[in-house]
Amino acid sequence: MIINNNKISDSEMEKQKDFIKKIKLLTGNKKYKYKINTFGCQMNENDSEKLAGILLECGFAEVSESDECDLVLFNTCCVRENAELKVYGHLGALKKLKSQKPEMIIVVSGCMMQQKEVVENIKKKYKHVDIVFGTHNLFKFPEMLYNSIISKEPVYDISTPADSIFENVPIERKDKTKAWVTIMYGCDNFCSYCIVPYVRGRERSRKIDDIVNEVKMLARDNVKEVTLLGQNVNSYGKEFGTDSNFAQLLKKLDEVDGLYRIRFMTSHPKDLSEELIYAIRDLKKVSKHIHLPIQSGSTRILKEMNRKYSKENYVDLIKKIRLEIADISITTDIIVGFPGETEDDFNETIELIREARFDSAYTFLYSKRSGTPAAELSNQVPESVAKERFQELVKVQNKISRELNNSLLGCELDVLAEGFSKNNPDMLTGRTDTNKIMNFKGDESLVGEIVKVKIEKIQTWSLEGRIVQNNDL
Ligand code: 5AD
Ligand code: SF4
Repeated sequence: MIINNNKISDSEMEKQKDFIKKIKLLTGNKKYKYKINTFGCQMNENDSEKLAGILLECGFAEVSESDECDLVLFNTCCVRENAELKVYGHLGALKKLKSQKPEMIIVVSGCMMQQKEVVENIKKKYKHVDIVFGTHNLFKFPEMLYNSIISKEPVYDISTPADSIFENVPIERKDKTKAWVTIMYGCDNFCSYCIVPYVRGRERSRKIDDIVNEVKMLARDNVKEVTLLGQNVNSYGKEFGTDSNFAQLLKKLDEVDGLYRIRFMTSHPKDLSEELIYAIRDLKKVSKHIHLPIQSGSTRILKEMNRKYSKENYVDLIKKIRLEIADISITTDIIVGFPGETEDDFNETIELIREARFDSAYTFLYSKRSGTPAAELSNQVPESVAKERFQELVKVQNKISRELNNSLLGCELDVLAEGFSKNNPDMLTGRTDTNKIMNFKGDESLVGEIVKVKIEKIQTWSLEGRIVQNNDL
């Protein structure tokens, strides 16, 4: 395979298109039905949109139940053990269905498959799985699918180098008002607990023009909001020199006609530059929200985690952000029960969240990931202790989130109407600029519009209000 500047060559992508045509011919008039099950982060969701795009081009149709399927796909995550166990559970449960319906194709893809021992396990214990591939060679799905249909033999392919980038894969985005756009792949940070750098490879950025063109096309299709995705978007463009950093990318995207809002995640505190803070402050379309994982409030634990900042660095950084951008919302990730975390360390985390007053926090129980340095540490925290700390942390953070939401009562905020709420089906739902969920009464015709909503009711994780004005873009 020829890789130019780590981009998969046009000829390789053409070859894959030919496989799509061949599959279409093979399946003929029979509409194969598929279901995709996605685990993990938004980047996996975005990968699943690409896998769906490929299947639709092959002439398949989506269904919601696995037992109606001709093809079922699991796009997996391995950041925490729970997600892996769920996948094994599903695969085990499918054994019986596959024996009754041997022509059904079972596909497993994603981060879990970038681990050799997982692939070996599937080979040995889950022989009913037909196709296995990792995140690096998603673009080769048409070829693998074709080979599987023709040979009826298992296809395993996790071979593509870990530094590849591919463009122009078909994509099926269900959401018509907002879209995920992956701007970079991989991670170079090697936080000691995290498996991502091992399964997603080294950091590599898409070319600025490729991203701008994709966003322009989305805006032309009436998409109003994009969320730029990367494990650490702050180091976007590191390999291109000074003109293509993340702040520059935001500036270019801010000029895209028809686009209303630009979100991004995730930001690593050690790489959040002044230039970026000013870009968020000054650019009209960039959302006033930063997701800035702290992980722990104890400098000692942060060092063990290899995070490369202290609690004081972090506090100074958010002070600076708030000084520059008055209404910014800051959210975070926190891990509880990292090996060696003492009661004192945990209390420092509680103190930190009281001081930082995050709008919300994703809290995780530490999960031991084999192959990471933290998994080798001997002083693992007992599960019962970690769970107790976790409950306390959630309680303290929920109170803060609610207090911050309470202060918004009576405010009028712009919201992009995204569709009907899953939890309140008679209400429309959307998010404020600061990424807070807002539910409000309104007609379906408002979906994709920006409306001004007056906040009348507060919940811990959402706001409720009434439309006071329908804004033109
Ligand atoms: N255990 C628990 N949480 C983890 N995360 C990453 N690795 C682990 C792990 N081994 C969390 C971090 C990261 C988020 C995406 O997942 O908080 O920011
Ligand atoms: Fe994992 Fe750290 Fe990279 Fe985030 S920055 S993906 S936590 S290694």
